[in-house]
Amino acid sequence: MAPNPAKAVLILGATSDVSRATALAFARRRWTVRLAGRSLPELQREAADISARTGSQVTIHQFDVLDMGSFVAFVDAFPDLPDVVMSAVGLLGKQPRAQIDLDHAREIMRTNYEGPSLILGLFAERFAARGGGSIVGISSVAGIRGRGSNYVYGSAKAGLAAFLSGLRNRLAINGSNVHVMTVTPGFIRTRMTSDMRLPPVLTAVPAELGEAILKGLDRRKDVIYVRSIWCFLTLIIRLIPEWFFKQLKL
Ligand SMILES: NC(=O)c1ccc[n+]([C@@H]2O[C@H](COP(=O)([O-])OP(=O)(O)OC[C@H]3O[C@@H](n4cnc5c(N)ncnc54)[C@H](OP(=O)(O)O)[C@@H]3O)[C@@H](O)[C@H]2O)c1
Repeated sequence: MAPNPAKAVLILGATSDVSRATALAFARRRWTVRLAGRSLPELQREAADISARTGSQVTIHQFDVLDMGSFVAFVDAFPDLPDVVMSAVGLLGKQPRAQIDLDHAREIMRTNYEGPSLILGLFAERFAARGGGSIVGISSVAGIRGRGSNYVYGSAKAGLAAFLSGLRNRLAINGSNVHVMTVTPGFIRTRMTSDMRLPPVLTAVPAELGEAILKGLDRRKDVIYVRSIWCFLTLIIRLIPEWFFKQLKL
């Protein structure tokens, strides 16, 4: 993506490893970076680091995706709408706990589906009224098919992917000039997966996501998989009949 000092990106869930890498990739291209998340001290540290390394302008903003009542005021507080809004907000949670603890299950569902969908949908309406902008939502291959080991998280990611798909299709029909991109990563080596043994060939590092997201925005992609092998694997995963998928005990 070409350097453009006039452009700004807002990153929701900016304390994630993926967000840090993506923020850095934007800042290196001299975009203004707006970091939003729950912990202001952590955002402050991250902003100082990015701005020291790149010289780009970085601002921080309090944001909790579970606090839907604050969304309109959050959007209105920006003097100028950003050019790109990305949500990397997510919560893997604990599947066994979510099966018996409804509050935990609801937190996973709301953090991965309800909150990101509603805030990105709100920005999309503002972008449509302005005449352009890009929305980026991070879903997951876990949302391609319900798996016994993580279906509360996976179903919420599936919901987010369906929401973004519908939003993209509606805005395309309206000719709104709003680009909606769904990121469907496989495994990423981050804090979220630090206790998992992941196959290296299927596992991206956060910097790969940053670059893939910028490239996807440049090319106005609808859906990106980061590592192309996942594009192929998700096709297979979709095609496996349910009776056989059940036997795989995934
Ligand atoms: N790691 C993987 O293998 C993988 C694979 C596919 C998709 N993804 C998705 O990629 C995205 C980034 O994940 P990651 O691996 O970098 O995980 P992560 O480090 O756990 O990031 C999750 C982010 O969501 C934020 N968040 C959680 N609840 C929030 C809330 N109520 N309000 C605002 N922010 C909240 C966290 O903020 P705090 O710092 O405040 O907790 C953190 O910034 C997530 O959407 C994840 O589901 C990850």
